[in-house]
Amino acid sequence: MCGIVAYIGNREAYPIIIKGLQRLEYRGYDSAGVALINKAGKLNVYKRKGKVSDLLDFVKDEDTSGSIGIGHTRWATHGEPNDVNSHPHYSQTKDLVMIHNGIIENYAAIKEGLTKRGHTFLSDTDTEVLIHLIEEIQTHENMKLGHAVQAALKQVNGAYAIVILDKNDTNTLVAAKKGSPMVIGIGKDDFFIASDATPIIEYTKNVVYLEDEEVAILRRGQELKIRNLKDKVITPYIQELTLEIESIEKGGYDHFMLKEIYEQPRSVLDSMRGRLRAYEGDIKMGGIVDHEKKFEKAKRIIFIACGTSWHAGLVAEYLFEEFARVPVEVEYASEFRYRNPVIYEDDIVIAISQSGETADTLAAIELAKSKGATVLGVCNVVGSSIARATQGGSYTHAGPEIGVASTKAFTAQVTVLTLMALHMAKVRGTLSETRFRQLCYEMEAIPSKIEEVLKLNDQLREIAFIYKDTANALYLGRGVSFPVALEGALKLKEISYIHAEGYPAAEMKHGPIALIDEEMPVFVIATKGANYEKVVSNIQEVKARKGKIIAVVTSGDTEVKAIADHVIEIPETDEFLVPLISVVPFQLLSYHIAVMRGCNVDQPRNLAKSVTVE
Ligand code: F6R
Repeated sequence: MCGIVAYIGNREAYPIIIKGLQRLEYRGYDSAGVALINKAGKLNVYKRKGKVSDLLDFVKDEDTSGSIGIGHTRWATHGEPNDVNSHPHYSQTKDLVMIHNGIIENYAAIKEGLTKRGHTFLSDTDTEVLIHLIEEIQTHENMKLGHAVQAALKQVNGAYAIVILDKNDTNTLVAAKKGSPMVIGIGKDDFFIASDATPIIEYTKNVVYLEDEEVAILRRGQELKIRNLKDKVITPYIQELTLEIESIEKGGYDHFMLKEIYEQPRSVLDSMRGRLRAYEGDIKMGGIVDHEKKFEKAKRIIFIACGTSWHAGLVAEYLFEEFARVPVEVEYASEFRYRNPVIYEDDIVIAISQSGETADTLAAIELAKSKGATVLGVCNVVGSSIARATQGGSYTHAGPEIGVASTKAFTAQVTVLTLMALHMAKVRGTLSETRFRQLCYEMEAIPSKIEEVLKLNDQLREIAFIYKDTANALYLGRGVSFPVALEGALKLKEISYIHAEGYPAAEMKHGPIALIDEEMPVFVIATKGANYEKVVSNIQEVKARKGKIIAVVTSGDTEVKAIADHVIEIPETDEFLVPLISVVPFQLLSYHIAVMRGCNVDQPRNLAKSVTVE
């Protein structure tokens, strides 16, 4: 994980780097640091455990001048989060400093060799080992820094996005990447480097996404030069960003998470825009059009994802099986990649990822590709590694999601996957025209129904107040609502640190029912549909043991209302589309509980938004 930012040009580097680090804090916030070279050629390095705001306090009376610099916000992997392990890290002579996002897997062996050759290390990090190695090669082989970086990177296993600053060359930055993202912004006469485009967009919209095993040399006032590790010269492919600055700011909300919850009517609409043509009874998805024959003939769909995106995959399992009558498997990418799974050439593998950078999902994609499957992506971040590694797919178009807890990305993923399932059903002829059209019209109405649910905010805040001090919570759902129960539990635990479990409602009696007493809040999705009566029975089982029931029900419901402690009434929709609506009250409940408990909603402890380590 970790966020990296660098600048070289004619402006002051420090404010650009700090603002960029604040935008990238979602990637990790264990520590932050900067290195700058001032006009006199003095290298100043400041780094601190904690957030970028702690770094700001720390350096407020220091010299932060200079028009070249690098900065880092860390999510700790090797070495505990403390000042010493913070980036940037020095080489042996302290002439070079480096920031790094990723993991050097064989760092221990390299460190052993370097130690024998007289190197001493200040930190426990893999990063420090790499910059020592680069300097050793540079000195021994009398190489330019760029060539030394190429040579050193040939010796390392793992993932990296690195930027190096050389005290003796104040006009050059050297950057390289493999497995971790890196974007280079091309200004009028300056360069910006960052882990994603958000620190760059207010300065330039022209960017180059560095590819794996490429090394970039950025010289002040000169053109960007890129070579790969085999020393082949690469012509930079300059793309124009479509991102707008407003989309990455809080826009009057207290937290990004709240803003993103409220954006859902819009983001779900954006996910359908140009694709869903309810009136014509058609769905057009440009990114899968080339794979239509595969969709027609596929024997199986495999979803690979992690966390919330995995929950979206679970929802999709119900939809693809119901609508397109195709067998579906939903896999944790981290398990799939290490399991030697059986994959056939007529399998369609769909990777789901908000960030498009999740290391396990990327590795699972490579495995599926190597076995000959068609691999598609459902990603939010345009130009991300997963979007580029897949053979096609669809962007979710939810806009930047900055709160660490995923909200609008989930509903956008489920929207796109629903459209894909309907499209596949059409191609395979597994749904009647009437049912297909009925579902299309229901999809069209989802944004306004989410709007209705958002109006329940005051009621949800009151319920949150009642349960904010609970130690545990249980979430139950059946059928397509089971993944929503998992997602509700994940939202609560990750931002409020309350232990929560999601379960298929009927599984409760096989164990979790033992947990139920008068202290236990049980959140249940009990909307109208085929499983309704069964869920009502499950609610009765909880009430018989004095558990507290907070039920999400279809508007107008009376049966559950009569037995539940609280009901949250949501608009009626097709039972297969309910997750798009029913997840929203759980997002708001978790948000309010976390705020009431004084938790850092947008940056929960130990987490990072983009999980680029396995
Ligand atoms: C939970 C959350 C995580 C992510 C997971 C996958 O709120 O955000 O569980 O869903 O880390 O991330 P992506 O979707 O970026 O691959």
